[in-house]
Amino acid sequence: MKIIQEASLKQYNTFGLEAKAKYFIEVKTEEELINALRNNEEELLVLGGGSNILLTKNFDGLVLKNSIDGIEITGESDNDIVVKVGAGVVWHDFVLHAINNNWGGIENLSLIPGTVGAAPMQNIGAYGVELKEVFELLDALHIETLRKKAFTKDECQFGYRESIFKHLAKGQYVITSVTFRLTKRNHRLNTSYGAITEVLKQNGIENPTIKDISNAVIQIRESKLPNPKEIGNAGSFFKNPTIDKLDYEMLKLEYPDMPGYIVSENEVKVPAGWLIEQCGWKGKKRGEIGVHKNQALVLVNYGGGDGNEIKQLAIDIRESVIAKFGIHLMPEVNFI
Ligand code: EPU
Repeated sequence: MKIIQEASLKQYNTFGLEAKAKYFIEVKTEEELINALRNNEEELLVLGGGSNILLTKNFDGLVLKNSIDGIEITGESDNDIVVKVGAGVVWHDFVLHAINNNWGGIENLSLIPGTVGAAPMQNIGAYGVELKEVFELLDALHIETLRKKAFTKDECQFGYRESIFKHLAKGQYVITSVTFRLTKRNHRLNTSYGAITEVLKQNGIENPTIKDISNAVIQIRESKLPNPKEIGNAGSFFKNPTIDKLDYEMLKLEYPDMPGYIVSENEVKVPAGWLIEQCGWKGKKRGEIGVHKNQALVLVNYGGGDGNEIKQLAIDIRESVIAKFGIHLMPEVNFI
C-alpha cells in the first residue's frame, strides 16, 4: 500500500478528465482500508470506478481507490443463492460471473460501468431493473470511528438513483462489500422494456435465458451509449425528472410526442434525453466536449476536455430545458 503524491486521476474517472490528487492510495483489503483511514487527516474522496463523477478541479486531499476484491457464497436455498462481493469488483465482471453460474437477477444491469461498492450508492438501474431488487445487505466502515456497520435494504433508503449514502450518510462510510440474493432457478426474467423485446425478436429468441437478456442489453447499450474507454463519459448526466401529472398533461397539448411514464397517481417521469434533444443539443460539440450523438442524456469528453467546460455545458442545457419546458433537470453525476 503506497501513498502517491500529486497523482493524476485521469485513468480513475471515466470522463478521462485531468485532475490531480494531493495524495492517492489504492486499498485491496479491509485491513488496508482501516490503516489508510486511521492515519489520514486530509479531506477524503473515495473512488470506485470513477464512473459517476465530474472532476472540475484538483483534489486537495486524499483520494482513496477502493479495490477490495472477492466473490463469496454466503448462503443458499432451493431457489436462491446469497453472494457477498467485494466493493472493488468491477460491476460488469460480477454480472458475467453471475451469468456464467446461472445466477439470475442482474442480467438487465449488464455493462453498467463502475464497481460493486458504488452500485448501491445510487441504486443503479437499467431496462426495468434496479439494484435494490436483488440487494440483501451491505457492509461499510464508518470513517470517523472505523467501526463496521451492516446496512439492511430498509436502512439504505433506496429510491430512483438514490440512497442514504447520497444524503444522511453522505461522506461518512466506505462500503466494503455488498451481498446479493440471486436466483438459481425459476429466474424472474424482465423483458418488459421495449428495446429488449425488440432485440430478442430480431435475434429470433422466443424463450430467453438470462444470458440472452444480458446479450440483448449489451447490444442496446453498445448501440446507444459511448464506451468510456473510447469516448470519456459518465453515462446519464442528469436524472429523468418526475413532474406533476397536470403539468405533464398541459405540456402534452403543446408537445404531443412527449414520452412519459406514470410513477404514481399524480406524477409522471419524463425522459431527460428527450427534453435535451428537443432543445437542440443532441450531437452538439463545443471544442473537445459535447452531447453524445445517439443519447442526449450523455455528455462526453472527446479528449482534452476540461471538467469546468462540461459543467458549463450542463448548466446551459439545464437552463434551456427550464426555458422551453419549465422542467428543472438534476444531475445524476457528482461534481468534485
Ligand atoms: N430519448 C430521446 N432522445 C435521446 C435519448 C432518449 O428522445 O437523445 C427518448 C427515447 O426515445 C425514449 C426515452 O427517451 O423514448 C428513454 O430513452 P432510453 O431508453 O435511452 O433511456 P433513458 O431514460 O434516457 C435511462 C437511464 C439509463 C438506462 C436506461 C435504460 C436514467 C437517468 N438513465 O435512460 O441509465 O441505461 O434508462 O434503462 O434513468 C445511467 O444512469 O448512467 C444510465 C445510462
